Amino acid sequence: MRAHEAGALHGNDAAPTWLPYPRDVNHLIDGLWSRNSARNAEGAVEIAGVDVRRIAEEVGTPAFVLDEDDFRHRARAFRDAFAEAFGPHRGADVYYAGKAFLCGAVVRWVEEDGLGLDVCTGGELAVALRAGFPAERIALHGNNKSETEIRRALEAGVGRIVIDSLDEIELVDDVAARLGLRAAVMLRVTTGVEAHTHEFIATAHEDQKFGLSLTGGAAFDAVHRVLQAPQLDLLGMHSHIGSQIFDTGGFEVAARRVLALVARIRAELDHTIDQLDLGGGFGVMYNTQHTPATPEVLAAGIARIVSTQCHELEIEVPHMSFEPGRAIAGPSTQTLYSVGTVKDVRLGGPHHRVYVSVDGGMSDNVRTALYDADYSCLLTGRVSDAQPEVVRVVGKHCESGDIVVKDEYLPSDVERGDLISVPVTGAYCYSLASNYNHVPRPPVIAVRDGGIRTLIRRETEDDLLGLDIG
Ligand code: LLP
Repeated sequence: MRAHEAGALHGNDAAPTWLPYPRDVNHLIDGLWSRNSARNAEGAVEIAGVDVRRIAEEVGTPAFVLDEDDFRHRARAFRDAFAEAFGPHRGADVYYAGKAFLCGAVVRWVEEDGLGLDVCTGGELAVALRAGFPAERIALHGNNKSETEIRRALEAGVGRIVIDSLDEIELVDDVAARLGLRAAVMLRVTTGVEAHTHEFIATAHEDQKFGLSLTGGAAFDAVHRVLQAPQLDLLGMHSHIGSQIFDTGGFEVAARRVLALVARIRAELDHTIDQLDLGGGFGVMYNTQHTPATPEVLAAGIARIVSTQCHELEIEVPHMSFEPGRAIAGPSTQTLYSVGTVKDVRLGGPHHRVYVSVDGGMSDNVRTALYDADYSCLLTGRVSDAQPEVVRVVGKHCESGDIVVKDEYLPSDVERGDLISVPVTGAYCYSLASNYNHVPRPPVIAVRDGGIRTLIRRETEDDLLGLDIG
């Protein structure tokens, strides 16, 4: 593209239609904040009894602040909702998807709260094993597992390896044979469902790297091969249709297709598949546009879908499992930033946009840049009675796409030194964090009952320089 004068056409300072003018710009919108977040008598936000000003002072900013009770409450809610919904059948287990956010403390909470753990790399497996997670409750995923990862998983005795391709069948069988072990496996099938927030496009999503295609026949072929493989025990089938899904429509199509395969396997191969994992993907509220269902409503809806399909196909409802990540970790955490430069940028005519810069950015939350995600934010260190105005919250990176919150109303007197928080950053923010521009990654702290505990310490310049040994 040739360079041209950008002018105001590239900018529009009007609030997007979904962003309502706030009745009270200091208010913590219901559903956006972890369950123990509230303003205290001094007007500052506290989380589990810990004032954000204290966090800024003791821990510094930016910092991920995780409300431990909120995280565990959600984990248990998913565990119980699915167990209850499938109770009349053969039950259901919930595996927390560690890719959303994983550290030793989270592993121990998940263990204590009776969930399984889904890992998708040797690194995630290492975190789980170091924290003493029972290997039989671990599921290993990944579309390109290395021989080393497979060997470590088998030696540790993981409960299941979710096989993702035809050649992986041989690979796992070979590694297991060399170790003199058996491998319990599931097969990840691609159902041709691409689930979006509100719609799904059937068959359109065959063209991606995950799983074994149902329509292309790879899935049936894979079942046949696993049943022949000397070291493999076929536990069941797996399907994951996507992420940030709000309704059960996508699960309905996926379940129908996988269960049809299960019926075919029984008819043609005389083999009964007695476990089905429908993955994760349950949506969360990042802003007022999103309306997630409760775990109870989701579980009851999916149980109805699965039992109806099984009834029609005259097969027994399998033992079920689910793998929520975002819906457990996301809402538990907010990122606390300090405001630096505030710049009022003229866009031509009457238009302008206020850019509020914070001390982090795309290195601690790349989701806005990567997925065009719409986050929210709030002035959390104090209240203000200044007029609300739409601002854009940006980071400190050398990149104009370094946007944390595209549009939000903040009080117009927001200034250097203020504390602001971005809610629902517990999933895929720390886990996707980078050192872009040699910015050290923030710490993750857990707050509970008025106390602060550092789960992951702040990265230092020495950490970064220590890698540079050339
Ligand atoms: N199970 C499997 C096999 C998955 O691939 C995933 C997510 C999950 C479970 C958990 O999905 P969740 O419940 O968290 O939606 N980085 C993206 C999301 C990538 C999801 C990858 N797989 C984001 O930030 O939106």
